[in-house]
Amino acid sequence: MNERETLKINKSGHLEIGGADTVELASRFGTPLYVFDEDYIRKMMRIYRRTLDDKYSGNGTVLYASKAFSCMAIYKIAQSEGLGVDVVSGGELYTAIKAGFPASKICMHGNNKLIKELTFALDNRVGLIVVDSCREADIIDKLAGERNFKQNVLIRINPGVEAHTHAYIQTARTDSKFGFAVADGAAEDITKYVLSKNNINLRGYHCHIGSQIFEKQSFVLAAQKVIDFMSEMKTKLGFEADTLNIGGGFGVWYTDEDPKLKPEDYSGYLCALIDAIKNKSAEHGLRLPHLMLEPGRSIVGEAGITLYTVGAIKDIPGIRKYVAIDGGMFDNPRYALYQSKYTVILANRASEECTEKVSVSGKCCESGDLIAVGVPLPRAESGDILAVLTTGAYNYSMASNYNRNFVPPAVLVKDGKAEYIVRPQTYEDLIRNDEIPDRLK
Ligand SMILES: Cc1ncc(COP(=O)(O)O)c(C=O)c1O
Repeated sequence: MNERETLKINKSGHLEIGGADTVELASRFGTPLYVFDEDYIRKMMRIYRRTLDDKYSGNGTVLYASKAFSCMAIYKIAQSEGLGVDVVSGGELYTAIKAGFPASKICMHGNNKLIKELTFALDNRVGLIVVDSCREADIIDKLAGERNFKQNVLIRINPGVEAHTHAYIQTARTDSKFGFAVADGAAEDITKYVLSKNNINLRGYHCHIGSQIFEKQSFVLAAQKVIDFMSEMKTKLGFEADTLNIGGGFGVWYTDEDPKLKPEDYSGYLCALIDAIKNKSAEHGLRLPHLMLEPGRSIVGEAGITLYTVGAIKDIPGIRKYVAIDGGMFDNPRYALYQSKYTVILANRASEECTEKVSVSGKCCESGDLIAVGVPLPRAESGDILAVLTTGAYNYSMASNYNRNFVPPAVLVKDGKAEYIVRPQTYEDLIRNDEIPDRLK
């Protein structure tokens, strides 16, 4: 097993996370169960914040990208670590506000924010909104005017850098549902448009080049291109941006095909970005912008695992062995969506040698309901506890009640003790919003 900071194998041969025995967690809370290590989350938040403090004179904000994992407790942790947050829907915004997160430190995203979401955002005076269409600029201008204040905004631009996990390509691609391309003049046009609005205060630009990226140069190149564009806007329009939000996207370890970064290594990414921003700004004679970044996956991804109980085992000789678990695409749709790869472990027999390769299948009525394919395991038996690693990001947040299965509960582990941060659903929850029209009764 690839021992990570958060995971250990204890004397009983059980997998531990944050000092808690996963077999005990499974027996106390049941399975499927999302488990998060609080120390790891805090460590990652601190790494980013301290790097900004030390290397960028504190002239920056780390916004936790809460789309990766949103629940009230995570906003509390972000707040106590001095972070802001990014939200992409009324639901995420509501959750943050209900958790007591200061609205002034919330940045709102989305390529098609609804009028009711924007109204909710302005009613709560969110700090920043990232404008993604002309229509949105019109709506924000109107809503802010009705409320007698100026809303701070950024504009989402596409600097023409597309990042892939280990590489990047430069492109003049304008075919994206997000943002305004620099290459075809759309970014300049929207800048003029937003500047013409009376109730909007344009602060600067945002870009996000992709996710699960390990190539430092991708981030550097994107930042350089945005600063080139900022300089162009200063020359052409006399507008000097004071904020640059560089998005998220730092990669995490899922399997040994991925680099295994230590929390401290992420500081290196940020330092490379900061150097590039300082150099480019100096080259153009621009003042240093307030720097924002929006890491999501790298904060919660490796902090989380999912525990399941093995049920049916189906061996089709010469073809494949299926190990079925009590979860599936309803708690983790990422294999079904993108054939994402995961590392799996028998948590109750974590020190045993792997002797076979199996496919871990879910319990949904879909052949494609798989969690991992061709993964090494000891010979699994019904009743074993199976852990899927690195499920802290985009698992709970992508979960559904497909087949009317329950979205699993989540627990947070601190000093070996676990507490619910998301309670289990009940059958009653599943029918809570159902109605039977009179004529069907
Ligand atoms: C605008 C924006 N910011 C931040 C993120 C977070 O990215 P990651 O979780 O890869 O750090 C995303 C993810 O898609 C995003 O779209």
